[in-house]
Amino acid sequence: MKKEVLNQNKESWNTVAHHFNGVDALPSYGPLAQTEDELNLLGELTHKKVLEIGYGSGHSLRYMANRGASELWGVDLSLNQKHTAEQTLADLTTYLYCAPMEEEIGLPVEYFDVVYSIFAIGWTTDLEATFNLIYQYLKKGGSFIFSWDHPLYVHLKSKNGQITLDGSYQEEGPHTFLNFKGEDATMVIQKRKMSTYINELIKAGFTIQEVVESDVSEIDKEGEVPISDRYYSLYKARKFPTTMIIKAVK
Ligand SMILES: C[S@@+](CC[C@H](N)C(=O)[O-])C[C@H]1O[C@@H](n2cnc3c(N)ncnc32)[C@H](O)[C@@H]1O
Repeated sequence: MKKEVLNQNKESWNTVAHHFNGVDALPSYGPLAQTEDELNLLGELTHKKVLEIGYGSGHSLRYMANRGASELWGVDLSLNQKHTAEQTLADLTTYLYCAPMEEEIGLPVEYFDVVYSIFAIGWTTDLEATFNLIYQYLKKGGSFIFSWDHPLYVHLKSKNGQITLDGSYQEEGPHTFLNFKGEDATMVIQKRKMSTYINELIKAGFTIQEVVESDVSEIDKEGEVPISDRYYSLYKARKFPTTMIIKAVK
């Protein structure tokens, strides 16, 4: 079943990859969320070995290079994303793999100072295996930082600015989208609670250092904002977090 989902998602990510060129990349942690400039979760990166889980178009790895990281590694399911990232990072030495994050592919263990992931972790079909692997890749004292949809946000429905709750927060498991990004692409995404992410980190051996339920940037807090029912709107994001960001340490 896991294999089927991964094969299906791989094919679909190849189809939708172009929608994500430079989207969800550092210094952004997520839509309308504070950026790394405000949160300072990554710390000093000069001479650090970094690994990105779900590197997409490669723009976050370029950000890491600009911040002085010495080795740039990444894992992504989609071959099209790999090709795009290779173009984005053409002038740099990189170690980019096309593979599922939940599978052992022989990456070095006890090696990385920072493992990070921007809007990709939630795609894993096996959170426990993924966190166990990331724990292995890190040096002792190394950090794992990831951002993903805040698990409550998908339940918010807005009508004329009135926000109500819809569906079940308690229900976890796979969710199928038939036309992801309006394309002929079936995508299976895993729905999990916030506590599931936190408890799986603890089970893998991590110490949780910071949990951020995003707020809008300081500059976006100023002034009136028009009512909007869009999925991501400043109006909604001022009231509810779009993104969760977690920093954990080995
Ligand atoms: C929203 S994009 C991430 C964008 C990226 N942070 C950037 O800077 O461009 C999500 C990525 O996760 C990848 N992905 C989805 N499922 C995956 C899996 N099981 N293992 C590894 N990568 C996966 C997709 O191919 C896609 O490139």
